[in-house]
Amino acid sequence: MDKILKGLPVSRKIYARIKEQIAREKLNPKLVIIFVGNDPAADYYVKMLEKKSKKIGILAETIKLGSAVTQTDFLQILSKLNNDEAVNGIMIQKPLPAQIDETMINNFINPQKDVDAFHPLNLGKMLLNEDAFIPCTPAAVLEMLKFYEITTNGKNVVILGRSNVVGKPLANLLLRKDETGNATVTICHSRTKNLKKITQNADILIAAIGRPEFVSQEMINEGVIIIDVGVNQIVTDKDTTAYVGDVNYDDCLNKSSFITPVPGGVGTVTTAKLLQNVVKAVEFQKM
Ligand SMILES: NC(=O)c1ccc[n+]([C@@H]2O[C@H](COP(=O)([O-])OP(=O)(O)OC[C@H]3O[C@@H](n4cnc5c(N)ncnc54)[C@H](OP(=O)(O)O)[C@@H]3O)[C@@H](O)[C@H]2O)c1
Repeated sequence: MDKILKGLPVSRKIYARIKEQIAREKLNPKLVIIFVGNDPAADYYVKMLEKKSKKIGILAETIKLGSAVTQTDFLQILSKLNNDEAVNGIMIQKPLPAQIDETMINNFINPQKDVDAFHPLNLGKMLLNEDAFIPCTPAAVLEMLKFYEITTNGKNVVILGRSNVVGKPLANLLLRKDETGNATVTICHSRTKNLKKITQNADILIAAIGRPEFVSQEMINEGVIIIDVGVNQIVTDKDTTAYVGDVNYDDCLNKSSFITPVPGGVGTVTTAKLLQNVVKAVEFQKM
């Protein structure tokens, strides 16, 4: 097996599965994306998501709101979508302007339409191993491991980053008593002492800190498996912009046994997991 773990074959497999299920069960899944402001990267992502959705049989609609939208207006729109039976999944594109309280929004979204899995009910159910939406990036990491037949059973998995979106849910999933779980998990963050000593002990190192090329070869053990979740925009020597991960890929390539690239790694699979959650939403709403 190639040591570069690419996301594309994994996402292709997920899309094929979704497309087949939609056709077989004659589903009409609908995703509504709420997009506030005009951040160019977010705009690009939303357009890509609409295109991907269409290709596999999901209707994706975007509601564009001005960056001065009030919290009250935002909640009113969300309330309508929460109660609209034709809408299966709701995704709120980040970043949100400062006047919008993100926690309140996460708590207000209908948990059955919460395809990003940010609602406390979904996070709680995930923790208890009940059937619920799983946050897309942690789900993408597990899907990558499964696809490339990397076992986690009894392995030392070190996660860099403790966010609610990536690090914390991922750690919980890796602790499950199942085929992508049973790992011994260590979570590190900005206050962790002797970081290098901990990362050097990893069988699998997962980086999700938002620090461009932070992980270098001195921090890793020979043969480690590296999953790079980070996506950081940098300005290159030639004054152009580029995206790099949280791992110094060139520096760590030889010493690792497997490594995910950025771009072209976990991010590709995250989008597929989001759209898979839209189909899951249809199932939840049938119950
Ligand atoms: N590929 C994808 O699909 C995908 C999806 C989501 C996010 N991402 C990317 O993943 C990265 C992390 O995203 P996030 O939303 O989880 O970020 P976040 O909310 O900013 O959390 C960053 C975490 O990293 C920790 N951290 C920061 N600097 C550190 C250091 N020097 N050493 C150790 N830990 C450090 C922070 O510690 P404290 O808690 O102590 O502050 C925090 O827990 C970003 O690059 C983001 O773009 C990618």
